[in-house]
Amino acid sequence: MKNILHFASLGPLALLPTVTGTPTKSPQTNFKQCVQLEVPVPVIAQNHHYDMPRIDSTTDAVHWTLNTTAWSTPNATERITGIVPVKQTFRIHAQLCVPTKRGPRADILQIATQGRGFDKRYWEVEIRPEEYSYLDAAISKGYSVLTYDRIGTGESELPDAYDIGQIPAQAEILAGLTTLARSGKLVSSSQILPATTGIPLPSPFEFQPSKIIHVGHSLGSFITFSFLSSHGALSDGALLTGFLLNKQLGTIAVSHFDHEFAAQHDPSRFAAYPSGYIVLTGQSDIQKLFFRKDGFEPALLEYAEKIKQPEAVGEYPSSDSAAFVPASEFKGPVLFMAGEYDYALCGGDCRGQYMEEESRGLFPASPKVEAYLQPGTGHALTLAGNATGGFGVMLGWLGDRGL
Ligand SMILES: *[C@@H]1O[C@H](CO)[C@@H](O)[C@H](O)[C@H]1NC(C)=O
Ligand SMILES: *[C@@H]1O[C@H](CO)[C@@H](O)[C@H](O)[C@H]1NC(C)=O
Ligand SMILES: *[C@@H]1O[C@H](CO)[C@@H](O)[C@H](O)[C@H]1NC(C)=O
Repeated sequence: MKNILHFASLGPLALLPTVTGTPTKSPQTNFKQCVQLEVPVPVIAQNHHYDMPRIDSTTDAVHWTLNTTAWSTPNATERITGIVPVKQTFRIHAQLCVPTKRGPRADILQIATQGRGFDKRYWEVEIRPEEYSYLDAAISKGYSVLTYDRIGTGESELPDAYDIGQIPAQAEILAGLTTLARSGKLVSSSQILPATTGIPLPSPFEFQPSKIIHVGHSLGSFITFSFLSSHGALSDGALLTGFLLNKQLGTIAVSHFDHEFAAQHDPSRFAAYPSGYIVLTGQSDIQKLFFRKDGFEPALLEYAEKIKQPEAVGEYPSSDSAAFVPASEFKGPVLFMAGEYDYALCGGDCRGQYMEEESRGLFPASPKVEAYLQPGTGHALTLAGNATGGFGVMLGWLGDRGL
């Protein structure tokens, strides 16, 4: 009900049913067939235990931020106090969509991993989806798309925020999903949930892609890169958005944004989130992190606040201490794509900051490693005023690479 009131001014498009099992047959959605899945993903990974303060309140969250960014605090690698072996099956909420009219590209599956602060709705923006939904743009070009909630977000499992919700485990979850998709067993090994978008896929349905492209945003691009480093042969191409190896990388610390303890910040949304989950405080933090002045519509900033997701604190030291291991088994093309004025990634201005040689070095077997700056845009490319222009670049680039 809250959703409907909130978006009442945006007209009927914003009111597409999101909770009923009734097939949506409006002209906006009948071009895709989707199935919602709960996928059990078995994972073996090696996480680390980091020395850092615990977070059980908003006061703790602020203290954690100041503590981990203090000049005298050892860096993340130096704060490792032990190895955490991960051997468990994660419950992952995912959605597979295929074009209703199957053309030659329907066999190419894009697997998309979003970054911090979002669940899979980052790829399927509900406001004017014909403009802002990357999922719809990719389906319209004939691709099939798998989106999923990373652990600790959306409807996927909420693991321990310190020792489990880290990069190594998340890269292995992406590897697990990719392996299931490649083997054609993704749907049959999952529980099928009531449809929420598109025309439900006929059941039983199975799908075996001929090629898989990995798409990331921000931390999701870093997780995708980690996955390519260790399982490069499982991928045929990569679009790493909100991500750019550049001279300013790391200059904007977590202390530039205000976070609160998720369960205390908004119990109506986040009561289930345990110790160690933080969330961006308000719209001004979200604007600073994701948006660029004149580059967005206010309704999209409100939407980002409405769909924002908590973050597991373990993601911070595990990304800071991760080595950039070259993806030597990955033989596909790579496109890095960042907003021209991305604050978090390039300290507010990506122009002239791309490290081309180092980027090529990360993909020694790739035929093409390129970078593109999306004009007038901040960090969140799907929420930017010119999102559609960016999607055109991404999908056109794939087409030009024969994908
Ligand atoms: C940061 O927290 C650690 C505990 O995890 C503590 O040992 C250290 O003294 C703190 N550093 C600062 C600068 O507060
Ligand atoms: C962390 O500190 C150690 C020792 O000072 C240094 O060798 C290492 O490069 C640092 N790591 C990062 C990621 O800055
Ligand atoms: C929108 O994005 C496209 C692709 O990057 C670009 O060619 C175009 O100039 C952009 N439009 C504006 C108004 O920035």
